[in-house]
Amino acid sequence: MNQTPAEPRPGRAQDAAQGPAPAPAPETFAAFEAAKGFMPADEGLALYAAAVEASQLGLPLLEVGTYCGRSTLLLADAARAAGVTAVTVDHHRGSEEQQPGWEYHDPDVVDPHTGLMDTLPAFRRTLHAAGLEDHVVAVVGRSPRAAALWGRPLGLVFIDGGHTDEHASADYEGWVPHLTRGGLLVVHDVFPDPADGGQAPYRVYRRALDYGAFREVSATRSLRVLRRTDAAVRSGR
Ligand SMILES: C[S@@+](CC[C@H](N)C(=O)[O-])C[C@H]1O[C@@H](n2cnc3c(N)ncnc32)[C@H](O)[C@@H]1O
Repeated sequence: MNQTPAEPRPGRAQDAAQGPAPAPAPETFAAFEAAKGFMPADEGLALYAAAVEASQLGLPLLEVGTYCGRSTLLLADAARAAGVTAVTVDHHRGSEEQQPGWEYHDPDVVDPHTGLMDTLPAFRRTLHAAGLEDHVVAVVGRSPRAAALWGRPLGLVFIDGGHTDEHASADYEGWVPHLTRGGLLVVHDVFPDPADGGQAPYRVYRRALDYGAFREVSATRSLRVLRRTDAAVRSGR
């Protein structure tokens, strides 16, 4: 997981995107910077640019891995501007590496009643304070279960949920088949070098490229944006 403080580095645009990169509303970006979460500012701006582009397709933007809503804010801002909806999925019990005793644990998001992590209240506060609640549908549950109920095309799929092979693969297999042609697949924490971080998101990214139905649009630190170029991505590939 990437928690490195942001030292802005320009993204590597490989597509024909021209002109100034889109920026979220200043109050949204301030809320993003204030929110708990794991995304540095330069990756956030790259995610936002992808969301702005994908939202032009007129379809929902889907995020796996809400946590406290830091990245959701950016999808919501783009969704608001385009009149679409951002959907964000999380069981709010935290990933493996966020549990007590692990590197990314935050005791402030433990529910004193259950003793379990619960990031839902912080997420709701984040979204409310930014005035973006109306543009987001939050799905509270396990990603594969939510994906199994989903039945319509998506303009963007952002994978930032569990970082084990089991979870990252399930997110890819569950949601990517719903991504429309021309839609964007965004994967966070892609580390080609194992010395930099866990490999499950990298393997998902490679899987998409190796399948042949995606072309890389941009790479900003560990955030990769791929465009789907065919209409027939199937699970299990
Ligand atoms: C890395 S955090 C997301 C960070 C967030 N996107 C941000 O930028 O601040 C990963 C989140 O995925 C959630 N998660 C992990 N596995 C999941 C699963 N199988 N289904 C739903 N949510 C899951 C965890 O609860 C955690 O909140």
